[in-house]
Amino acid sequence: AAVLGELAGQFSLAVVPECDSTNSRLMETPADDDGRIAVLAADRQTAGRGRRGRSWLSWPGAGLTFSLRWHFMPAPHMPAGLSLVVGLAVARTLEELGVEGVQLKWPNDVLIHGKKLAGILVELSSSRGRPPAAVIGIGLNLRLPADAQVESATGVTDLAACLAAPPGPNRLLGLLLGQLHHFLDLYAAAGFPALRAAWQQRNAFADLPVRIFGEAQELAGTCAGVDDDGALLLDTPEGRRRVLSGEVSLRLA
Ligand code: ATP
Ligand code: BTN
Repeated sequence: AAVLGELAGQFSLAVVPECDSTNSRLMETPADDDGRIAVLAADRQTAGRGRRGRSWLSWPGAGLTFSLRWHFMPAPHMPAGLSLVVGLAVARTLEELGVEGVQLKWPNDVLIHGKKLAGILVELSSSRGRPPAAVIGIGLNLRLPADAQVESATGVTDLAACLAAPPGPNRLLGLLLGQLHHFLDLYAAAGFPALRAAWQQRNAFADLPVRIFGEAQELAGTCAGVDDDGALLLDTPEGRRRVLSGEVSLRLA
């Protein structure tokens, strides 16, 4: 409560017992004008979403699911680095709590020792006559039920497996909002180049053979990090290729 109290001036926070998807709700509610960042957290989502129509699964009390609406001024399109910056804020929060082995999987997953702990979904919302806003959704596993079945390319993990005394959802939300505020401000002021090295330090697939697929694209190569826009760099037999974070998936080859 103390952490949330300190942030009250910057965020307008609503917590609901249940909704379909906190991203969907914030996408559909018009932005208020009080200058604060709208945050919506749900104890339970009935239709949590990942990218490309996939689902984010959660169980009551087993995780944290929330979204925030962030207004960024100039760009009419989604800046590629944004979901990476959000990942960095989640990673820093976990590291601050003493979690070891935090890694980022381009473009939108947070892994602990190779297993997925959290996912990020960033969507562009534009309401008429207003500057565009990004709706940033984060789902993080706190304590998965023993019989939870989640299909995932990486395997899944929860915070209870990483810390002897994991924080409760309220404290964790407060810490995350603090780091998000810090990193989004930095990103707005200096852009992704200022954060690129910090992202690369945590790149789960650095220098590893990977492949990407989706839409028309299919590429294999060695992961050479990200560029100043947050695009993935792949060294392929035909030379270096750059993949923008559109609708593609990344896997170890
Ligand atoms: P990609 O590399 O394509 O992004 P992804 O696994 O991150 O793969 P997304 O659509 O970004 O795919 O995220 C949704 C995926 O997250 C689901 O397909 C599922 O594999 C995984 N997932 C769903 N619920 C959870 C959860 N509670 N914990 C961990 N992973 C989950
Ligand atoms: C992913 O793993 O790729 C993205 C998962 C994002 C899940 C969060 S939970 C809060 C917000 N609401 C949603 O429907 N999705 C995001």
